[in-house]
Amino acid sequence: MAVVAITKERQGGETRVAATPDSIRKLIAMGLKVRIESGAGEGASIPDAEYVAAGATIAKGAAFTIKDADLLFKVRAPDAAEIAALKKGTIVAALLNPHMDRNSLDALAKSGAVGIAMEFVPRISRAQSMDALSSQANLAGYRAVIEGAQAYGRAMPMMMTAAGTVAAAKVFVMGVGVAGLQAIATARRLGAVVTATDVRPATKEQVESLGAKFIAVEDDEFKNAQTAGGYAKEMSQDYQAKQAALVSEHIKKQDIVITTALIPGRPAPRLVNAAQVASMKPGSILVDLAVEQGGNVEGVKLNQTVVTPNGATILGHANLPGRIAADASSLYAKNLVNLSALLISKEGAVSPDWTDEILVGAVVCTGGKVTHPALAGGAAAPAAAKPAAVAKAKAKAKAPAAKKPPTKKG
Ligand code: NAI
Repeated sequence: MAVVAITKERQGGETRVAATPDSIRKLIAMGLKVRIESGAGEGASIPDAEYVAAGATIAKGAAFTIKDADLLFKVRAPDAAEIAALKKGTIVAALLNPHMDRNSLDALAKSGAVGIAMEFVPRISRAQSMDALSSQANLAGYRAVIEGAQAYGRAMPMMMTAAGTVAAAKVFVMGVGVAGLQAIATARRLGAVVTATDVRPATKEQVESLGAKFIAVEDDEFKNAQTAGGYAKEMSQDYQAKQAALVSEHIKKQDIVITTALIPGRPAPRLVNAAQVASMKPGSILVDLAVEQGGNVEGVKLNQTVVTPNGATILGHANLPGRIAADASSLYAKNLVNLSALLISKEGAVSPDWTDEILVGAVVCTGGKVTHPALAGGAAAPAAAKPAAVAKAKAKAKAPAAKKPPTKKG
């Protein structure tokens, strides 16, 4: 019976966990044995006893939890001690942060593990239930508004009282992907007057459908600013200057600004400069969700609250999903259960079809090497894909023989 291990998160004060009692029940129903490290659920308020009641075995320490496991599920990349405990060929699924945390990825690759970066799960409809970027960004967008509202010394909704009227807060959301859309919806629910901007034209309708106003320079470049994959392109200097002028006028009237703009694999674009921050009213708040990628707001500091001379506050919380750890863990654990359906046979054996486009997109290392073409050193990817195709053809010829991982020569 294949074993899936879940360890306590060790990196960056992570509070989330890769399994919940509910996800464990589902993994067991798939025929897996689940082993979880004692205390793994603490940050998400899940005691060991709940995991045991769901059918998991508790182990003390990472090494005992991982020993002989066929799969390791984590939120963040495993650390050196966890990697040392892996047996060769273990499938490790986590938010590996492959673009930014190359050292961890190289160490994982060297161990001979098959690394699945949850961030790289392709955004096709069949993979929606495995899309951890979306599940976590959605909660981050919600939490950003809560953090902003909490730091803001005034109310969000308009209130008419006998003693006078309290004005509604003006919230400006910059970057309308998954997090931005949820931030708009949350701020609207709290009663704020919401505006939003993005470089992708498709977002205009989405913003308006949530009852917010769209603010952007809508020129020809804007009309073509979306890649075929649905992501933002890096904009020209000229466009950035025009957009900055528009934003400058708008931002000085805002109470709370939430920035979420990212470009995959590149540093976050700078959307708010120091002069724009300096133009804001005393008591205004900026929440920068892109702080871990360098930040959208000039002057943001990782995990710090910066109060500017003009009295604006810039919140630089890393890992907003970790500030809503119980729900974030629950959704992430479900993403992993859905991914497991691609890795486990009906009989509960580890038997992935490595040619499945979801796995082709998400596997970042295998056979001792970083293989993904989007990563430097991943030039081996096309070659890695070849043995997978060979393995598939062989598996067909010898059905029902188990399919081989991409780089194993068979
Ligand atoms: P993201 O996290 O990569 O970026 C956040 C937002 O920032 C994006 O909307 C992007 O256009 C925007 N942005 C980048 N540069 C900017 C700039 N200079 N100024 C203003 N905004 C800027 O985006 P996320 O949330 O991952 O979504 C990216 C796309 O993927 C969207 O089209 C989304 O609808 C799509 N998507 C598709 C899914 C599926 O088909 N299964 C699932 C989730 C998202």
